[in-house]
Amino acid sequence: MDQLLQQILDYKREIEETPVNGIDSLEAYRIRFLGTKGILKNLFTEMKNVPSERKKEFGQVLNEFKQLAEDKYDYWKKEIGSKTEESTADQVDTTLPGDLLAIGSRHPISLMKNKIIKIFERLGFSVAEGPEIEDDWHNFTALNLPEHHPARDMQDTFYIHQRPDWLLRTHTSNVQIREMEKGKLPIRIICPGRVYRNETISARSHCFFHQVEGLYIDENVSFADLKQTLYFFVQEMYGKNIRIRFRPSYFPFTEPSAEMDINCQLCNGTGCTVCKHSGWVEILGCGMIHPAVLENCGIDSNHFTGFAFGMGIERPALLKYGINDIRLFSENDVRFLRQFIAAT
Ligand code: DAH
Repeated sequence: MDQLLQQILDYKREIEETPVNGIDSLEAYRIRFLGTKGILKNLFTEMKNVPSERKKEFGQVLNEFKQLAEDKYDYWKKEIGSKTEESTADQVDTTLPGDLLAIGSRHPISLMKNKIIKIFERLGFSVAEGPEIEDDWHNFTALNLPEHHPARDMQDTFYIHQRPDWLLRTHTSNVQIREMEKGKLPIRIICPGRVYRNETISARSHCFFHQVEGLYIDENVSFADLKQTLYFFVQEMYGKNIRIRFRPSYFPFTEPSAEMDINCQLCNGTGCTVCKHSGWVEILGCGMIHPAVLENCGIDSNHFTGFAFGMGIERPALLKYGINDIRLFSENDVRFLRQFIAAT
């Protein structure tokens, strides 16, 4: 028993005299005195060997020692903690430039879409949007494309099993119908959005892409208005020297219908693979709204006329930014997307 008391005295002296000067020695201290196999634990197990008349005395000495060992540990822990904070604070050089925050960039499709919208907004068009999951009426039938119409073949899409009447829209022309059905005239809108087709995915085509549709309905709207509007658009988009041509075409929802080409911006008309050596690139379809479409939406076709046009966004974006594979637009590869940080 006296030997044990002497040992405790020695340990006390050790604790008082040995400074703890870092995280490692603090941990060594903890293990030596307070650990599960440490000195305190051992001394407490000695209690059973102490004769019962001296247990009280030994217990008191031991508890004091325990308090000391723990207080010292807390003290050193605090000391060392505040020192490490100070020293890391000392090491911060506030004159160094900060870390750059990674800012996002607009997707090239959004850039192109916004460009197109801005030009038409200056002509008084406003933006209208509609659903991507559409019913047969708004995507096909109301647009003069009844069931079994051969022109539906060019726009095969994805259908929804549970609702056979529903499909993923093949063009943004559904918005045209929805706006006309509202019955408020005149209408002057552009409709940007995503569309779907059941196509094999390749460098040139995808099962989804983007379009901007335009629609203008009023009294006395003529084909000349259509041509002038689109001519203004391409001049703003590609520059004053742009040349255009209209080719007769067919769409069930317009009559007459046309496709508009611009002279190839890559080869300037001398012939390249993009324009398939013709010098011209098709950029949109257009025409005067078919009277049957107006009537389908409750608009008096004897009183009102209108024009419509529709263009893809991917193709002009490919041309403008020199991209050669349409799949890059939807792969979400940041190495691709980062390249548009400074693009307009
Ligand atoms: N909806 C047509 C398509 O996706 C594009 C189009 C052509 C829209 C002529 C029009 C239009 O509004 O008048 O192929």
